[in-house]
Amino acid sequence: MSDVIISPSILSADFANLERDIKCVEDAGADWLHVDVMDGHFVPNITIGVPVVASIKKVATIPLDVHLMISEPEKYIEPFVKAGADILTFHYEAVEKENVFALIDKIKSYGVKAGMSIKPKTDVKEILNYLSQLDMLLVMTVEPGFGGQKFMPDCAEKIKTIRAMNKDIIVQVDGGINAETGKICRDYGANSLVAGSYIYRSPDIKEAVASLKRQ
Ligand code: DX5
Ligand code: ZN
Repeated sequence: MSDVIISPSILSADFANLERDIKCVEDAGADWLHVDVMDGHFVPNITIGVPVVASIKKVATIPLDVHLMISEPEKYIEPFVKAGADILTFHYEAVEKENVFALIDKIKSYGVKAGMSIKPKTDVKEILNYLSQLDMLLVMTVEPGFGGQKFMPDCAEKIKTIRAMNKDIIVQVDGGINAETGKICRDYGANSLVAGSYIYRSPDIKEAVASLKRQ
């Protein structure tokens, strides 16, 4: 399977040279651009918000894959769509269970792809009934909040269960992905890989992206 979607995380880019670092991964063959939005509440870190996403949209030529690690994501769907998100992923743990379906519908109503993400401690069985409504399920293989953490192999096992339930959904994996851990996830059935530090800290970015696609 060569149709893997590589989504470099700009969290590991140089924010003072964001345009340069976006072009750099586009030239290397990246498919999407992964944008990590953190609010200092759902996760213990603050990154970027709506105005920065709008500025990124002006220079990026590939789809913006926006990963919302924020509380009350329902309040921010419209602003992020207007800023230019093409794929909008919220965290299952940030939403009351009875509101999950409505939130997925809301994202889709704007004509963008709807993604939902699960943290390492969330049991995959809890989310299986949402798969048919979602465009993408994002499996976190680190605790969300920071780049450069170590891949948690037990979390990646969830990919198998998700893929067995649904052949069509995009299964994305995020956290500690490199050529080796990416291959494990691909073998389990993932078809989208997020990588931040592996790509941006590589001396050869083109080769780093290629190595994730090659498997
Ligand atoms: C972590 C973010 C990731 C992060 C991945 O909370 O969601 O997207 O940038 O970074 P690496 O690839 O360095 O683990
Ligand atoms: Zn992310």
